[in-house]
Amino acid sequence: MPDIESLLKETRRFKPDPAFAREANWNKKTVAEHRKQADKNPEKYWAARAKENITWFTPWKKVLDWKPPFAKWFVGGKLNVSYNCLDRHLEEDGGARRNKAAIIWEGEPGDTRVITYAELHREVCKFANVLKTQGIKKGDRVVLYMPMIPELAIAMLACTRIGAPHSIVFGGFSADALRDRIDDVGAKTVITADGGFRKGAGFPLKQAVDDALKMTKAVDTVIVVERTKQDVKMKKGRDLWWHDLMKDASPKCAAAKLDSEHPLFILYTSGSTGKPKGILHTTGGYLTHVTTTFKAIFDIKDSDVYWCTADIGWITGHSYVVYGPLAAGATTMMYEGVPVHPGPDRWWELIEKWGVNIFYTAPTAIRTFIRLGDEHPNKHDLSSLRLLGSVGEPINPEAWMWYHKVIGKKNCPIVDTWWQTETGGIMITSLPGVVTTKPGSATLPFPGIDPEIYDEEGNVAKPPGGGLLVLRKPWPGMLRGIWGDNKRFKEQYWSRFEDTYFCGDGAHRDKDGYFWIMGRIDDVMNISGHRIGTMEVESALVSHKGVAEAAVVGRPDDITGTAIVAFVSPRGGTKATDAFKKTLIGHVSKEIGAIARPAEIRFTDALPKTRSGKIMRRLLRDIASGVESTGDTSTLEDFSVLASLRGDED
Ligand code: PRX
Repeated sequence: MPDIESLLKETRRFKPDPAFAREANWNKKTVAEHRKQADKNPEKYWAARAKENITWFTPWKKVLDWKPPFAKWFVGGKLNVSYNCLDRHLEEDGGARRNKAAIIWEGEPGDTRVITYAELHREVCKFANVLKTQGIKKGDRVVLYMPMIPELAIAMLACTRIGAPHSIVFGGFSADALRDRIDDVGAKTVITADGGFRKGAGFPLKQAVDDALKMTKAVDTVIVVERTKQDVKMKKGRDLWWHDLMKDASPKCAAAKLDSEHPLFILYTSGSTGKPKGILHTTGGYLTHVTTTFKAIFDIKDSDVYWCTADIGWITGHSYVVYGPLAAGATTMMYEGVPVHPGPDRWWELIEKWGVNIFYTAPTAIRTFIRLGDEHPNKHDLSSLRLLGSVGEPINPEAWMWYHKVIGKKNCPIVDTWWQTETGGIMITSLPGVVTTKPGSATLPFPGIDPEIYDEEGNVAKPPGGGLLVLRKPWPGMLRGIWGDNKRFKEQYWSRFEDTYFCGDGAHRDKDGYFWIMGRIDDVMNISGHRIGTMEVESALVSHKGVAEAAVVGRPDDITGTAIVAFVSPRGGTKATDAFKKTLIGHVSKEIGAIARPAEIRFTDALPKTRSGKIMRRLLRDIASGVESTGDTSTLEDFSVLASLRGDED
């Protein structure tokens, strides 16, 4: 979490470049007009965006049906996401985009594919027909567990074509985590690959699917893309090769006319309990939100090559690798592997090679590259870049400045975009060519979005006061619920303040009304821009027979933003050894996935608790970060616990 005191002392300002502003999709006048309209009548404002950016088969009857906390947008309207991402680009403007690259893909080993809109349309129609042949119907859930290959985008779009909501599970999650998600979402079909390439080697995916399916009976079909050609076992009657099914599939498949509120996807994210939440997004509002924000914030032009480095397994990949860019008719780039393979300049090489114009990445990656040295980006011609974006965590001003100078050569506006899995699309952001930026601030709300900062009592915190970041009005891309759990949906987001969404982040606002996001204030950690719940890691740890009790906290880390520290009390008879630490780290990887591995495990006989038995995480956070605790310890049950934990430190 960045130090807000130092952030608020940040005095550097970057005014929009007039040359950029002249050509920008949205200029000062447009934005002023948009803000005026949106403030006056947000529903009317979003309706105008839905009309302008989306093709509807049937117009809506009502813009918004808001029965807090349940929203329905564009009620009665009918549309199809894959139609908006594909078909209309083949027809509009005399078919000008037919042969435009929809996806530029590069595999980690250096193999490449450039897929035009016409070709992507054919592949999507074929795979939609495959899904139909396999008995998938409108409403059936399909789980995708795949590497970053074009087939992932094809599968997503094919699902949307027939109205089968997808649920993508990031390839870094373990078999156990995959099984939990398959069961929770009730999927009958899983689409996967033999494996994917990472750091020069093939990592297995099909094997994890096999392991997951040993523990659940829900799935009857597994479709497997051949990517790495590693050995896989194909179970007769259940497992089918993608290429066999595609061979004879017809390239014609009409797009289903779906209700605006038809479920589009479910994406699991961590919350403050041990069980991940299935965040539900629907069709019309989501597509309006991501397409509108994509065009305006990234200033996309038909000739641009746009690259968002996120894995499609996360929300950024859903909204700003696939749906936003394709609905806008852009060229979106996908890269399969790790940023530093085979060398520390792989990303910069890719920018030079493909002439990337717009680049969107996460602060953790920027910090990694700062550490690796300027010589790597400096080896490459990055002059094609004209706009840079940041997402996933607060960007510290020094990382911002490095991004601005070393990557952007002081020529590119930076858009720092704040949003969440739950919000569907970007909510607080700079608008290039319009908003003056301040390093470390996500700046101002997007028109039609109404964030505010409240104190604990729900009063507006007056600038420069800090507090809890809330959203006061519904917005089109908002989550429609937690899959199968309306009670948790209400409790989690809507119970703190009446009819107001609480996002779990703390923020400050300065005298210019700029937002400075401080990071999570709930029990969710942000590791390299990815959310992991402390409870999730704790549940994984205590599921090991040698663990009596565990408490997990985050501590600041230069590269990953936050690192996971676990305080563990072993069960009687279990020795607190280094070997046991390794076992526990392996156990967490197995239960959740490598992204949730603790960076540090500390053994302790007891955890600091209040008299009512609650673990005092605040103290543990201080101990883990090596800072002297200044907070109140009067409720601590046993002071000797604290002394021994600190002693452990020394
Ligand atoms: O804490 C905020 C942080 O990421 C959280 C959302 O995580 P997730 O749902 O995984 O989505 C990440 C990608 C949109 C937020 O609650 N966050 C995201 N973007 C920013 C950010 N924190 C500060 N600045 C940002 N630009």
